[in-house]
Amino acid sequence: MTLLIVILGAFLQLIPQPAYVETMPGFCDADKVTVKKEIADTPDLPDSDESYVLIITQGDIRMRARSEAGIFYAEQTLAAIRRQCQGRVPAMKIIDYPRFEYRGAHIDVSRHFFDKEVIKRQLRTFASLKLNRFHWHLTDGAGWRLQIDRYPKLTEGVEHYTREDVREVLALADSLHITVIPEIEMFGHSEEVLEAYPELRCKGDAGCSSVYCLGKEKTFRFLENVLDEVIELFPSEYIHIGGDEADMEVWARCPECRCRMHRERLSDVGQLQSYGITRIEKFVNSRGRRIIGWDEILQGGLAENAVVMSWRGEEGGRTAASMGHGVIMTPGEYCYLDGYQDTKSSEPVAMGNFVPLSKIYGYDPAPASMPGHEFVLGVQTNLWTEWIETPPHLEYMLYPRVMALAEIAWSPVELRDYADFRKRALSACRELQEEGYNTFDLETEAGERPEYSDTLHHKAFGCKVSYQTEYSESYDGGGAEALTDGLQGPWHFKTRWQGFLNTDAVYTVDLGEIADFCEVKSCFTQWYTAWICMPVEVSFEASLDGKDFFPLGSEVSAIDLKNPRPLFHTFSWNGKARARYVRVTARINDDKWGWLFTDELIIN
Ligand code: ACM
Ligand code: ZN
Repeated sequence: MTLLIVILGAFLQLIPQPAYVETMPGFCDADKVTVKKEIADTPDLPDSDESYVLIITQGDIRMRARSEAGIFYAEQTLAAIRRQCQGRVPAMKIIDYPRFEYRGAHIDVSRHFFDKEVIKRQLRTFASLKLNRFHWHLTDGAGWRLQIDRYPKLTEGVEHYTREDVREVLALADSLHITVIPEIEMFGHSEEVLEAYPELRCKGDAGCSSVYCLGKEKTFRFLENVLDEVIELFPSEYIHIGGDEADMEVWARCPECRCRMHRERLSDVGQLQSYGITRIEKFVNSRGRRIIGWDEILQGGLAENAVVMSWRGEEGGRTAASMGHGVIMTPGEYCYLDGYQDTKSSEPVAMGNFVPLSKIYGYDPAPASMPGHEFVLGVQTNLWTEWIETPPHLEYMLYPRVMALAEIAWSPVELRDYADFRKRALSACRELQEEGYNTFDLETEAGERPEYSDTLHHKAFGCKVSYQTEYSESYDGGGAEALTDGLQGPWHFKTRWQGFLNTDAVYTVDLGEIADFCEVKSCFTQWYTAWICMPVEVSFEASLDGKDFFPLGSEVSAIDLKNPRPLFHTFSWNGKARARYVRVTARINDDKWGWLFTDELIIN
């Protein structure tokens, strides 16, 4: 259905943006009129149970939808309009429907526990943003957070939700038209289970592994018993069974796993994982439910009707979609809220990623050019909580970024306009703050590293660089020209920065002819959470012939290598010199551990 999009007046600040709004003459005194709600099959609505029509006239307000969910979303829209118009609402007609059926947010409650009230508070906001899935990451190595009657040792001594707590959250979620998808991690990220029930470890695992033994029948009995309780508690069609980052090497060494592989004619541990996932999937299917798994479940062959959650980029999602599997896009680069959202030095420590509001807003999970785009069920943000200890910090990482997710998940892609969205997000943050939520301060956002937008023309610009130690192919920053292309890196290290792993970085630039210069400098970055360290010292040398080098000078770093914040430091020499070649030696720490990352060698 093609709809005419009418740009709204400045009075409406809705997130997500409705698909179609037509303003009409006159105003409605919303406090005085009754709201008429009708559930009916209507041909003017797109083919979704969540779509609705909202008509506001001088005399009344009417909403029509195919289902309770549609009426609920009409109510959310009306509530937002009323808040903003303070009762005197311009007459208008809204026809609205979601772009994606799955609009999700995930919270990890294992790394740090957040009680049921904290979760309920976020669900209310998620629902007002028309999100309809809450992915509850209930288990991980740091702690099992769900009461399981049959295995009480799982939650002994750790904060967790009782069945009653869960029922309370589920009742609220149900009233908010949010489906709660529980995640029970397998077969990795399971240190906490193996600690409580060591009989589920592989043979030879001395207590440091994170994977269940897939050779043992009792592993499957345990998982099935747990899943039975989970399925009894959670009504969701989908049960998330994890599947990410299993340390499969442990299986390769375990005689019981190898025996299973032999018996089942599995040629590698990837296939063993697939065997396990398929077995669990059959079990979950036998209980009338379906599985979702992280994209690693593609390894060794995908179970029959599994839905794939694509987190290691979009590749897994694209592969699964091309095979006709349902996909939820949640690539780290765009959807991981555990990364930094700004560059201010006052930002709380986060994971080694930079995901500002604009990044999420600019993401299209299913462009029309993508083969199999119709299998993309939706999109989701993930909030891992290794660095997040308190509810205010949790909210700070969620808002406003979840708003961007809500809009890309609901609104037609043709309506995207970041400048306009940012204004609406600012206003929505103010509303949340008035309700006591702790949001990121979008007003003072510092944004991208200023150096990123400049092209520098300096004496080494375009000159050839030879390398005495090798840079990494994974972080080549643009290859052999990267350090003299005039382009400095963004705030985040993933582009333009050149990385050297477990070694000094030593490279020489040839200026092409003997030249006078008075400054040599190179910026390095440190992201402790991504194992990127400052060099302990950077020295600069020069040469007329490229053979005999004389020292210019060196700078020792005073930066704490364990400082977890992203740091930038320009190492420099100033003086007077005449030479053709300049060599830089950035010395890594004495353990030769981690990465060195630099972006440009600047000579003036
Ligand atoms: C994940 O972030 N390990 C799914
Ligand atoms: Zn084993």
